Amino acid sequence: MTTRLERLRADHATALLAFERENREYFARSVPDRGDDYFAAFADRHRALLAEQATGACHFHLLVDERGGLLGRVNLVDVAAGAAELGYRIGERAAGRGAATAAVHEVCRLAAAEYGLAALTAVTTLDNAASRAVLRRTGFAAVGELDLDGRPGLRYRRELDAAR
Ligand SMILES: CC(C)(COP(=O)(O)OP(=O)(O)OC[C@H]1O[C@@H](n2cnc3c(N)ncnc32)[C@H](O)[C@@H]1OP(=O)(O)O)[C@@H](O)C(=O)NCCC(=O)NCCS
Repeated sequence: MTTRLERLRADHATALLAFERENREYFARSVPDRGDDYFAAFADRHRALLAEQATGACHFHLLVDERGGLLGRVNLVDVAAGAAELGYRIGERAAGRGAATAAVHEVCRLAAAEYGLAALTAVTTLDNAASRAVLRRTGFAAVGELDLDGRPGLRYRRELDAAR
């Protein structure tokens, strides 16, 4: 599967809303549901995300296949002091084929080479074995424990090598 990351744009809105709708139940099995308001106010939220991205506070990306089909999203938020927090979700139809692993590798490269970041952090619940596998395989180390909405979780960090 050949995939690439596209930086979030205004014209991604329709495909992104369809992706979130299609995978709503699937994602809710591992992470908190976004709630009905997210879907009702999607267009406003999309504009707000782009405005936030324009400030440099975050970098949003869509993972697409060779035909431009939307497979998932990979985001860097809370950019500060040379670091940012990584988040990702891959749709059910692309699950278990290495899409998240490839996307996280690529966003680490972008973070260092394009965004000038020196480290990324991430969090996941202990019971999210797929997410933990992705982080482990992409060079993140568990650096602490935390509570995520009442569920035990882990905090991860990866230093970035500017030469990669
Ligand atoms: C977590 C998620 C991003 C993984 O995406 P993906 O494209 O399927 O991930 P990959 O195929 O790159 O790798 C998944 C790895 O986890 C493993 N895995 C999947 N389910 C697993 C399970 N229940 N137990 C153990 N390992 C599991 C896979 O076997 C694979 O490892 P392998 O290639 O060594 O076999 C995706 O499932 C997802 O979006 N889930 C919902 C949202 C979410 O949880 N986001 C992360 C929040 S921290």
